[in-house]
Amino acid sequence: MNVMLTELLHFMSRPNIAVDLGTANTRIYSSLNGETTDNPSSINLVVRKTTPVSNEYFQYINNKISTKPLRRGVIVDLKNATILLKKLVNKNRKSLLSPMALATAPIGTTEKERDLLRKALMNAGTSHVAIIPESRAAAIGAGLDLALPQAQMLLDIGDGVTEMAVFRGGRILYHATVHLACSDLHRSVRSTILARHRVQLENASIEKLTHVISSMQNEQESNVGIFDVSGIDAVQGKRVHCCLNRKDVINALEPVLMKITVIIVNFLKKLPDKIYSEILESGITLTGGGACIAGMDSLIARRTNIKVRVALDPLHAVINGARLSLNYWIGKEDGWENFTWPKLTAFR
Ligand SMILES: Nc1ncnc2c1ncn2[C@@H]1O[C@H](COP(=O)(O)OP(=O)(O)OP(=O)(O)O)[C@@H](O)[C@H]1O
Ligand SMILES: [Mg+2]
Repeated sequence: MNVMLTELLHFMSRPNIAVDLGTANTRIYSSLNGETTDNPSSINLVVRKTTPVSNEYFQYINNKISTKPLRRGVIVDLKNATILLKKLVNKNRKSLLSPMALATAPIGTTEKERDLLRKALMNAGTSHVAIIPESRAAAIGAGLDLALPQAQMLLDIGDGVTEMAVFRGGRILYHATVHLACSDLHRSVRSTILARHRVQLENASIEKLTHVISSMQNEQESNVGIFDVSGIDAVQGKRVHCCLNRKDVINALEPVLMKITVIIVNFLKKLPDKIYSEILESGITLTGGGACIAGMDSLIARRTNIKVRVALDPLHAVINGARLSLNYWIGKEDGWENFTWPKLTAFR
C-alpha cells in the first residue's frame, strides 16, 4: 500500500529544474532524470548560400550567424531567450505537469533584469520561478560551508561577468559584479591577430591561446615560443595557417588581465580589516570558465597575495549549487517560498 502511495505521489509531483542561464552556456539540472545538460546560450540562424564562397568559409560564416539573447549575464532579447529556454524546458515536462524552476542570476542584477529572467522561464513553460544569487550557488557548488563564522570569498569569472562575494555566517556580506570576463580576453586576442595577420580565429583556438597566461610569470618562457594556428584569411576567405608569437598573445591579454586583477585588489582593499584578514586565511575560491584557464589561479594569487583554490568542477559550480539548493528545499513545507532574493547592500 505504502509503495503504491509513494508511486502515486511521485507520479503527481511536479518535476523541478535548476537553471544557470549564462552569457555563453545554459546549464539545466532536471529532477526527472537527475542529469545536468550543457547547452550554448545561442540560437543559430541558418542562412542560404547565395554567393560563390568556399564551403568552409560558408560554414564558418553560418556558425557565426547566431543570436545570443544574453549580454553580460542578463537577458537583452526576451523573445529568443524564451525560444532557447522553451526547448530545454519541454524536455523536462512530465505529462501535463510543467516544471518549477530555480534559476540563478548575477548578484548585481536589478529587479527589472531578474523579472525578465522570470518572464522568459514562465513563457518557456515553467509553472513557478524562484531566483537565487549566482555567487551563492557557485559557493555551494564549490563545496564552501557558508555557515562558517569565518569570512570566505568566491570569485566566478564567466564569459561576460566576473562576480565576487564574501560569505560569513550564512550571509553574503560584500559583493561586486563586474562586466569584464573571458569574452574580453578573447576579444583582445581576436582583434590583435586580425589586425596583425588578417586572420579570423575560431573561438576554440582563441580559448586555447588564453592558456599562455600560465607562462606569464616566467620572463624567459613568455618571450619564446610560437603557436601554429589555423584560421580564415579575412580577405581571401580561405583557411590559412599563421604563426603567432607567445609574447604577442600575452601582450593582447595583459591589459584585460590587469583590469580584472586591479578590480579584485580594489574589492579586497575596501573590505574591513577583520574580514580581510579572515580571507587572507581562508583564501579565494575560483569558479567559472575563467578558472579553467591555465595559470589564472596563480596570476590572481600573485597579484592579490592571497591563496587561490580552483573549485573541483568550476564550470558546473553554479548549476551544482543550484541543484543542491533545490534538492534541499524540495518537499519541505514552504520550500519554494524560501528562495527569496536576499536584501543586499551595495558595496562601493
Ligand atoms: N578549458 C577552458 N580553457 C579556456 N577557457 C575556457 C575553458 N572552458 C571554458 N572557457 C571559457 O569560459 C567561458 C565560459 O565560462 P562560463 O560557462 O562560466 O560562462 P557563463 O556562465 O556562460 O557566463 P557568465 O557567467 O559570465 O554569464 C567562455 O568564454 C569559454 O571560452
Ligand atoms: Mg556563469
